[in-house]
Amino acid sequence: MPLLDILRYPDPRLHRVAKPVAAVDGRIRQLAADMIETMYAADGIGLAATQVDVHERLLVMDTSEGRDTPRVLINPELVAASDEIVSGQEGCLSVPAVYDDVPRHARVTVRALGLDGQPFQFDAQGLEAVCVQHEMDHLVGKVFVEYLSPLKRERIKTRLLKQARELLKKSA
Ligand code: NI
Repeated sequence: MPLLDILRYPDPRLHRVAKPVAAVDGRIRQLAADMIETMYAADGIGLAATQVDVHERLLVMDTSEGRDTPRVLINPELVAASDEIVSGQEGCLSVPAVYDDVPRHARVTVRALGLDGQPFQFDAQGLEAVCVQHEMDHLVGKVFVEYLSPLKRERIKTRLLKQARELLKKSA
């Protein structure tokens, strides 16, 4: 299975809004498998289809300690969220080496379809709650740096564009 290319911020494609998955078929199962492999290879805890330039509502995540319990969420919806907000350091495979505090609901209830096409629902808290909110943001075109101040965001953008240019020079 091939590893997928992960889009890097500030790539405008990261801001596209994903459409619902129309059918959980072989194509979607293959995409999910490739995304799981890509997430593990990049040492991430979550990856949204948007990040691999597929604009459909699908995400994969694994916040387990053994990193052996991947979860696939198709057409995920937030059905409940706690009033309590927590703020913790987040990073993103699309924004390498940047970590900053983002406010999130402490607890959420999420409903989604699984790879079998059947709906399921789960409650999440802690890292899992943060991760699922972060990944669901990707599906509506939102990258976590958009929670930061415009000044911080511009600095991140400048730094990543510079890195991208240097990488291009090296490979030229
Ligand atoms: Ni991310």
